[in-house]
Amino acid sequence: MRRSSSTTGRFGAALLIALPLNTAVFASTLEDTNRSTAMAEFARDAVQDADGASLDPDPALVELGHMLFFDPRMSRSGSQSCATCHNPALAWGDGLPVGVGDGMNNLGRRSPTILNTAFAPLLFWDGRAESLEEHALGPIVSEAEMNMALEDLLHIMEGIVGYRPYFAAAFGGDESITTDRIAQAIAAFERTVISGEAPFDRWIAGEEDAISEAAQRGFDLFTNEAKCSQCHDTWRFTDDSFHDIGLDTEDLGRGELLPSIESMQHACKTPTLRNIDQRAPYMHAGQIATLRDVVIHYNDGGIARPSRSPDVGNLGLTDQDIDDLVAFMRALTSEDEPVTIPVLPH
Ligand code: HEC
Ligand code: HEC
Repeated sequence: MRRSSSTTGRFGAALLIALPLNTAVFASTLEDTNRSTAMAEFARDAVQDADGASLDPDPALVELGHMLFFDPRMSRSGSQSCATCHNPALAWGDGLPVGVGDGMNNLGRRSPTILNTAFAPLLFWDGRAESLEEHALGPIVSEAEMNMALEDLLHIMEGIVGYRPYFAAAFGGDESITTDRIAQAIAAFERTVISGEAPFDRWIAGEEDAISEAAQRGFDLFTNEAKCSQCHDTWRFTDDSFHDIGLDTEDLGRGELLPSIESMQHACKTPTLRNIDQRAPYMHAGQIATLRDVVIHYNDGGIARPSRSPDVGNLGLTDQDIDDLVAFMRALTSEDEPVTIPVLPH
């Protein structure tokens, strides 16, 4: 799946040595072949979830989950819903360096996007949760986030009579409200939050001018010299794995769960790059403000320590290369209709 720039480089050199007379002709076709092989790796698969099952959620369950996701009555203060920190207008993040929870408390990490989490085998920056169902009640009960005890949550939800028909529709006519059902509905809704078609998708489908020349050069850099696709691959631009990319941080990330594996210290989950230009600031604690600064960080490599990935740093990118990589990332933003904010039942 992953390509390394050195492999294609060697391949190219071997062909050029074997056919010295055709060097110029060969160089250009080889470049085209490399580009189209790379393009194929980023084509959208058939839509399947993390377990390979087809995504075909029950519309009534999704409708209920959509309301719950936006309902601030699920928080103790009555003012915070999941959408406060996972806001569709901010590509399902919150635009802050770190999340702000109950009582205006700063959380330790940035609110990640929930875009494309249907396909993620592990959730959170450190991968500590395995399923959307398992996670959905977490932020509600967490004192730092929505700070709502489950028995109080049930009490409040049972008092909102307008919810009953929605629970009945989602659960075969049975209107009873349980925390398990709340979790199932929220997770079903989250699975529908998928990034739509971006100019980049139209480009790899053959529409040659769907993205600028700069973005096309950026793509070549992304998949070769800049080594980005070593970790940001597939149509979601993530390997679903964990890496230390040399950020200035005390956070051990996945290392907290795997203390004996050196490469997991300070390692966080590779985020999707879909709709990335709508989601500043970047990284697990919002350490980097702009996409340009992100590329500059990779070019230099940040903090060298034993856990840092060898694919980061010493990239030798020029100013022009940096701009091209940014232009490429901007071509990954989808042109979706704005998300509807549901009318909440009373
Ligand atoms: C106060 C802000 C806040 C609220 C409210 C909140 N979240 Fe989050 N969410 C976060 C933060 C911060 C993380 C990352 C935590 C970590 O990695 O340690 C996160 C992580 C997630 C993830 C994992 C995403 C990934 O790519 O791994 C999902 C899914 C999620 N939240 C869904 C929800 C749902 C559903 C709700 C409502 C029930 C909710 N969140 C409420 C801040 C919030
Ligand atoms: C060794 C794997 C690896 C390589 C190589 C890599 N990335 Fe990343 N990328 C990550 C990880 C892991 C994170 C999250 C790091 C963190 O927050 O601790 C990340 C974060 C990002 C973010 C911020 C995403 C967000 O939501 O905050 C952007 C943008 C990004 N990378 C772009 C690039 C570009 C452009 C390149 C090539 C110049 C690149 N990456 C190379 C693994 C990698």
